[in-house]
Amino acid sequence: MTPHSGQQPNRSEPAGWRIYWDEQGSPADSFRVEGEIYARRLMAAIEIDASMDVLDYGCGFGFAAALIAPHVKTIRYYDNSPRMVEYCKARLAQLPNTMFCDLGSEDGFENCPPMDLILVNSVLQYVDSLGAALDLLGRLSKLMANGGLMVVSDVIPPSHSLAVEAIGVLFKHPSLFSDRIMNVARRYARARGSATLLRISRNDLEETARRNGMEVAFHEPNITHFPKRITAVCRKN
Ligand SMILES: C[S@@+](CC[C@H](N)C(=O)[O-])C[C@H]1O[C@@H](n2cnc3c(N)ncnc32)[C@H](O)[C@@H]1O
Repeated sequence: MTPHSGQQPNRSEPAGWRIYWDEQGSPADSFRVEGEIYARRLMAAIEIDASMDVLDYGCGFGFAAALIAPHVKTIRYYDNSPRMVEYCKARLAQLPNTMFCDLGSEDGFENCPPMDLILVNSVLQYVDSLGAALDLLGRLSKLMANGGLMVVSDVIPPSHSLAVEAIGVLFKHPSLFSDRIMNVARRYARARGSATLLRISRNDLEETARRNGMEVAFHEPNITHFPKRITAVCRKN
C-alpha cells in the first residue's frame, strides 16, 4: 500500500491493510456467505479430489478452507495477520487434515512440501505494491507440484469501478451489501486512510505466470460474488 504522506512506513510495524486485518473482531456474517459462494464456485470451476495437498494463502477467517477441507487430503493455511491466523486456527481446529504453515519466513517456504493446489483468493489487492504482489506469485509458484494448480481470484483489474461493483452487489446480494457498507467504512477508518486496493492487469498475471513456468487460463466470470474481477488458473508445467 502506498502511504499518502510520502513518508516511508516503518516495516517492523503493521501498516495500512495489515492494521485493518489485525484489528478485525469476530467476523460479520457477510464473510461467511462470501466464503460459501467462493468455495462452491471454486469446486465447480476446477476438479478437486481427495488426493490433493492444498495451501490456502491469505486464509482470512477460514470459512472457505473449512468447506474445502473435507474434499481434499490436506489443507495448509497461512495469513500474514496473526489475528486472522488465530480465527482460522479456531475455525479449523476440529478438522484433522488442516494445519498452519508459517510462510512468514524463508524457512517456512523451504519446508513446505509440494502443493497440488494453491488458493490465493481476495488477497493480492491488499499487498503493498504491484512488484510485491507479482513477486509473491513467483514465490508461491515454487511451492507447486509439477502439474499443480494455483487459483488466483478476486483480482481487481486497473480500469475497474468499485462504485459500479457495489451497485451490482446491492442488486444481486442485498444481504451482503449492508454488511459490506459497514465493513468498507470501518476499513478506511482502521487503515487510517493510508491504504488503497491494488489493481493488477491480465497482462501482468500472464507475464508473471510465464516467467515462473506456469500456463494461465482466465476463468469467466470471477469465482467470488464480484463477477467483473479476475480469476487466473495457473498450471505448473
Ligand atoms: C478478504 S480476506 C480473504 C480470505 C480468504 N482468502 C477467503 O477467500 O475467504 C484477505 C486476507 O488476506 C490476508 N493478506 C493480505 N495480504 C497478505 C499477504 N501479503 N500475505 C498473506 N496474507 C495476506 C489478510 O490478512 C486477510 O486475512
